[in-house]
Amino acid sequence: MPSREEVLERLAQVKAPDGRPLPATGTLSDVVVSDGKVFFSLTVDAAAVPAWEPVRKAAEAAVRSVPGVTSALVALTAERAGGAGRTSPVGRTSPAAAARAQHQAGPRPAQAPEGVKAIIAVASGKGGVGKSTTAVNLALGLRALGLKVGVLDADIYGPSVPKLLAIRGKPQTIGGTRLKPMSGYGLSVMSIGFLIEEETPMIWRGPMVMSALTQMLREVEWGELDVMVVDMPPGTGDAQLTMAQQVPLAGAVIVSTPQDLALIDARRGIAMFRRVNVPVLGIVENMSTFVCPHCGGRSDIFGHGGARREAERLGVPFLGEVPLDLAIRETSDTGRPVVATDPDGAHAAIFRRIAERVRDGLGGGQGRPAPKIVIEA
Ligand SMILES: Nc1ncnc2c1ncn2[C@@H]1O[C@H](COP(=O)(O)OP(=O)(O)OP(=O)(O)O)[C@@H](O)[C@H]1O
Ligand SMILES: [Mg+2]
Repeated sequence: MPSREEVLERLAQVKAPDGRPLPATGTLSDVVVSDGKVFFSLTVDAAAVPAWEPVRKAAEAAVRSVPGVTSALVALTAERAGGAGRTSPVGRTSPAAAARAQHQAGPRPAQAPEGVKAIIAVASGKGGVGKSTTAVNLALGLRALGLKVGVLDADIYGPSVPKLLAIRGKPQTIGGTRLKPMSGYGLSVMSIGFLIEEETPMIWRGPMVMSALTQMLREVEWGELDVMVVDMPPGTGDAQLTMAQQVPLAGAVIVSTPQDLALIDARRGIAMFRRVNVPVLGIVENMSTFVCPHCGGRSDIFGHGGARREAERLGVPFLGEVPLDLAIRETSDTGRPVVATDPDGAHAAIFRRIAERVRDGLGGGQGRPAPKIVIEA
């Protein structure tokens, strides 16, 4: 297996635009070598990006030539002159140093991209409970309420938003450094899935993940959005916690299935957001009652009502129940989300109702008073 040192040695043969060996330029992030796959980023001044693109390519080629390396992915991160637009707190430091710096600084209230009024996360402690399905249909529900909505797929390891919205192709670049979001069903969308090949294994870690996320947040021309819905990766570990701190969230929606075990994870998710002072907008019970497509009979495969009770217990709003229904699975998995493709159906109505509650929770509607919104202008 190739080592990090071997990779760095080979990178020393790559010259920066000013002729210096690449590792001497201070642009290199931590170099991650995992199972023969190598990932790192180069953080350079935005104005210098065109000059650095050949360097990025050369670095990739050099790394691929190291015996045992099966793939290399080198990302170029633009840093605006003067440091004002510094996108990642970890661009030039080791993960440990970055973690220390972050710890010392406390949770950093990042800024939302200009023009984006509110960012909400759709999260769960547990995988496979229907976060992405809920995120996409919630986004479409918010759009149906007349809002301008974006979707940011923060699941760097397993991006599923491109498939859920049937969006293919690569985003266009604007002026060489910024990306135009993709669009689907009237939503502006960005996902790491658009930027890398589907076969590229997702063993990004620590700083790589953060720089990918901050790039998708800050180096994309999101334009004017009332709400950006962020589809979070599963779990409540360090990576999720850092994300919750890095993205200026106005609130979080927790998705859970009704079983006790899933609810324990949902509770962890809620605790995580509370820890970083992000208001929990509520819980959605997904895969609630199963309605048999043949006989119309109802059965509670995973139980029923658990999430509502949990919401009451924790003092957070209950946003709604989405049934376990084959139609939801089929439409999601084929890129035809129910809210867009069957707007008059019962499922669409459920997601729109959830969207209304989320909007009201953000203070965008009438009804109850808005919770504190932790966005800094
Ligand atoms: N209410 C539902 N009824 C039927 N199938 C559903 C429902 N919600 C989600 N699914 C299906 O369950 C699977 C997992 O859903 P999804 O990908 O949205 O979960 P996730 O929580 O985002 O997963 P991951 O943790 O892997 O990101 C998908 O095949 C999806 O179509
Ligand atoms: Mg998902």
